[in-house]
Amino acid sequence: MGKNIDLCLNNIYQFIPKNIIDNQKVAAEDACKALHRGSGKGNDFLGWLNLPSEASDELLADIENTAKILQKKCEIIVVIGIGGSYLGARAVIDALSNSFVFLQKEHQFPIILYAGQNIGEDYLFELQSLLKNYKFGIISISKSGTTTEPALAFRLLGEQLEAQQGKEQAKQLIVAITDKARGALHTLAVEQGYKSYVIEDNIGGRFSVLSPVGLMPIAVAGFNIRQLIAGAKDMQYETSDNVPFEKNLAMQYAAARNELLKSGRIIEVLANFHSKLHYIAEWWKQLYGESEGKENKGIFPASVDFTTDLHSMGQYLQEGQRVIFETVISVEEPNFEKRIPTDTANRDGLNFLAGRRIDEVNKMAELGTMLAHIDGNVPNIKITMPKLNEYYIGQLLYFFEKACGISGYMLEVNPFDQPGVEAYKKNMFALLNKPGYEKQSEEIFLRLKK
Ligand code: PA5
Repeated sequence: MGKNIDLCLNNIYQFIPKNIIDNQKVAAEDACKALHRGSGKGNDFLGWLNLPSEASDELLADIENTAKILQKKCEIIVVIGIGGSYLGARAVIDALSNSFVFLQKEHQFPIILYAGQNIGEDYLFELQSLLKNYKFGIISISKSGTTTEPALAFRLLGEQLEAQQGKEQAKQLIVAITDKARGALHTLAVEQGYKSYVIEDNIGGRFSVLSPVGLMPIAVAGFNIRQLIAGAKDMQYETSDNVPFEKNLAMQYAAARNELLKSGRIIEVLANFHSKLHYIAEWWKQLYGESEGKENKGIFPASVDFTTDLHSMGQYLQEGQRVIFETVISVEEPNFEKRIPTDTANRDGLNFLAGRRIDEVNKMAELGTMLAHIDGNVPNIKITMPKLNEYYIGQLLYFFEKACGISGYMLEVNPFDQPGVEAYKKNMFALLNKPGYEKQSEEIFLRLKK
């Protein structure tokens, strides 16, 4: 492809001088080396580092083949998963799909819907009601194979699929992606003979988008997983530990955000001017939030969709507490062209825009926002993607993952664990009287009575 995504830090230097960021060169290079040598915290979870270069033709062809089978047999595929077992696939599929895919009359590929990412009774009721009228299949994803939300959804939807298609046919329409030896989903998959893919032990959920966890749903949705991997692979080499700080975008982003944090910018807002990037931001928030938010440390990752949110969060960004910096993902060239028509009567006063592209207006909104926010004391980082396609999304995903690993090490936390996620689960299980939680149940009910 010849081009790469680009990182611009010029608009943070008036807040943090360039030499301060550059002074982080050694720390960033050491952090990157620690990742590659496996000498840092959480070093048993580094399998994601080489996923792009190690994605074998055999695996990709197998995934593509499974995708073709599901595409032929299903109008809808429900992807069941939560957190890292869901967000990456949704991020890529949403970024690449037609915004109105649901209402299109003709569908070359199945529509992708999601379940197990919440415990909404109405959501599941409505989903099941809809599925009664369609031929559907399921991709069930859970590394542990025991997470409550997806397990519940799978119990309901698996049963429905069997009722609609018969037990034997249903088995052909379910794909399981889980641990190679443990967990309820693994046991079910073996018992029932579902087509299965393994999530390797050394890959954590939020770093798994470039494994079958992301690739399988993305392929079924009709997108080119080889291009996604190609982009990620190029970025893998561009951000390797033998690429020095001056050329290594992941190191530079990690260094910049850590210096911004030290200067009191405790919130990073990931902004886009392209509504299809909404779920890329959701994925990014999980990646950075779960990786860095621990030991009372870390930047709080937030996100906005512009210009939509300029009419809601824009006020706070411009004039609220000055604890924010902004990282904007900018897409250089839209995939389609649309020009603004002339209206001879100029009733709306918009003739000054006639003949110009919608994207020009969007880009000026982007530039105007950047200048306004800098004036309002919001440092600005800009990431430019040449186009919204599989190749550059692959680059972007790997760039963020790599920078996250480096950034976590610079912050001196283990970026690959998430001990805090267990707290709500323990309480929920105690409240639901799950076997094994009897003692906690007693304690929690006493606490609630007080
Ligand atoms: O990043 C993570 O590890 C988590 O977000 C998990 O992906 C999430 O909790 C789902 O876990 P599992 O795949 O075991 O169902």
